[in-house]
Amino acid sequence: MAEGKFITFEGADGSGKTTQLKIIKEFLENSGYKVVETREPGATAIGEKIREILLHETEKISDNCEMFLFLADRAEHIERLIKPAIECGKIVLCDRHTDSTIAYQGYGRGKNKEILRKLNDIAVNGLIPDLTLLFDVTIETAQNRVGKDKDRMESAGREFFERVRNGYLELQKENPERIKLINANNSIETVTKDTKDIIIKMLEKDRRINVSGV
Ligand code: TYD
Repeated sequence: MAEGKFITFEGADGSGKTTQLKIIKEFLENSGYKVVETREPGATAIGEKIREILLHETEKISDNCEMFLFLADRAEHIERLIKPAIECGKIVLCDRHTDSTIAYQGYGRGKNKEILRKLNDIAVNGLIPDLTLLFDVTIETAQNRVGKDKDRMESAGREFFERVRNGYLELQKENPERIKLINANNSIETVTKDTKDIIIKMLEKDRRINVSGV
């Protein structure tokens, strides 16, 4: 059976990562891989309820409550969906994961990043992405893509966006092996090509390892 893979798609709101995820899903399926498309928050039955609160609650939510809700969603997601799919040899494409919490709750909201890392560790129970694609955009590109119909998180403002974006770039510098940076200001076609190149490289590396029996 093929070895499962865990690939996460990260970036600020309006980075175009969801569009790319769908294109990559089709590409991998056409290449014969079994693929699972998923997202955070909201990929499980409990997660759906958590997502509704996180994105559409009109009452004010405390920063700690927000943080625990994202993490609760993740714990459920890992256990019920991501881990079983990887164990079945599937490629899991996940729209947002642990880096979103460090970028948004850590850099964006100012929560302690070391504590967030520990909480993330508990939520994922040892499962770390094989690859993370970081779609980086300027606020101008992002605003054009998000449009006027914003959810609770997207309404957080320009300074928040900049903190999140810089947070992601810091994370990439700290984890250059796992997190690959993609300039998502470019056209969809160019971004797709860059994304495919990175994924193909990862899959080919695996094949070489299998072929040589290491
Ligand atoms: P979503 O509609 O899924 O947006 P996007 O298409 O940009 O992924 O909304 C998810 C929002 O939740 C997004 O603004 C980022 C935020 N978020 C966090 O703040 N922390 C997290 O840990 C996660 C997973 C998401």
